[in-house]
Amino acid sequence: MKSFASDNYAGVHPDILAALATANEGHAVSYGADPWTARAEAVLRDHFGPQAHALIVFNGSGANVLALRCACRPWEAVICAESAHVNVDEGGAPERIAGVKLLTVPTADGKLTPADVRTHVTRVGDEHAVQPRVVTITQSTELGTRYTEAETAALAATAHELGLLLHVDGARLANAAAGLDTGLKEITTDAGVDIVSLGGTKNGMVLGEAVVFLEPGLAEGARYLRKQTLQLASKARFLAAQFVAMFEGDLWLRNARHANAMAARLARHLSALPAITITQAVEANGVFAIIPGPAAEAARNSWPFYTWNETTGEVRLMCSWDTTEDEVDAFARTVGDACAALPA
Ligand SMILES: Cc1ncc(COP(=O)(O)O)c(C=O)c1O
Repeated sequence: MKSFASDNYAGVHPDILAALATANEGHAVSYGADPWTARAEAVLRDHFGPQAHALIVFNGSGANVLALRCACRPWEAVICAESAHVNVDEGGAPERIAGVKLLTVPTADGKLTPADVRTHVTRVGDEHAVQPRVVTITQSTELGTRYTEAETAALAATAHELGLLLHVDGARLANAAAGLDTGLKEITTDAGVDIVSLGGTKNGMVLGEAVVFLEPGLAEGARYLRKQTLQLASKARFLAAQFVAMFEGDLWLRNARHANAMAARLARHLSALPAITITQAVEANGVFAIIPGPAAEAARNSWPFYTWNETTGEVRLMCSWDTTEDEVDAFARTVGDACAALPA
């Protein structure tokens, strides 16, 4: 089965599997005191700058929760878009495990603005109100859009002016960097970001994400909190070896560029169909579109994908590192045929 359901439906890139096989030689010290972890940490410093401190974790929700736990004290709060993964897809873990209140902002495109941040920083110093501490943005967003370097820098400047930190949920950071044709550092460290949840899974790893602290002071205690948050792997070399394979060379970029290109190709096909409306700018590896219900159902039989908004019929079509041009073309033909078969 191949699908447009999620980049998590995709398998594992062969180079990652090869790296796992190589790491599977003999014994290695557990819990991250192994050579692969040291090498992965060095590789991530190369990407994010010499001050970057990375902690590898199992999954993206864990990365976000750990990042927010490290950044916030029990009375502090996190400003995020209503559509943010931390708000809608982490089962309440940020509230339950990190113990933070989320201050949500409705957005049209999944992106926060400096004005949104200012609106939500109120009652500072009032003990009856939660105190905002972090702004979290998703890059690229849950809606397939992305922040430019300037937009991120403006958010960081506003956050810092107000005494807040800027966290980036970068489950798809590679797709944003590839789309902007720039590096990971340019869209994070250089823009003033304080903490990144860096994704690997969606871009071709088995599992594994990292919390990258760009402000060294924020990493204090993070090792302990990672363990407490159940995100410290015993056989850590197998997570780290994947990071080395993904980020030491340009695999991260090649995979993300490819997934983005497939989304752009899909959007081109679909926008040629009068019955279909593309609802978001296609700036990463997802296409959001309103497809007439019966046509969507007909296409879904052979190519699974998710409905994003039941009310409007908007669907989410995700491309992956392993989506092929032929698959995109065949899917678009299926959708086109289904639209043509709709009653006039
Ligand atoms: C924006 C975003 N953040 C984080 C995650 C990570 O989630 P998980 O805990 O499933 O790895 C996802 C996965 O869907 C995501 O889309």
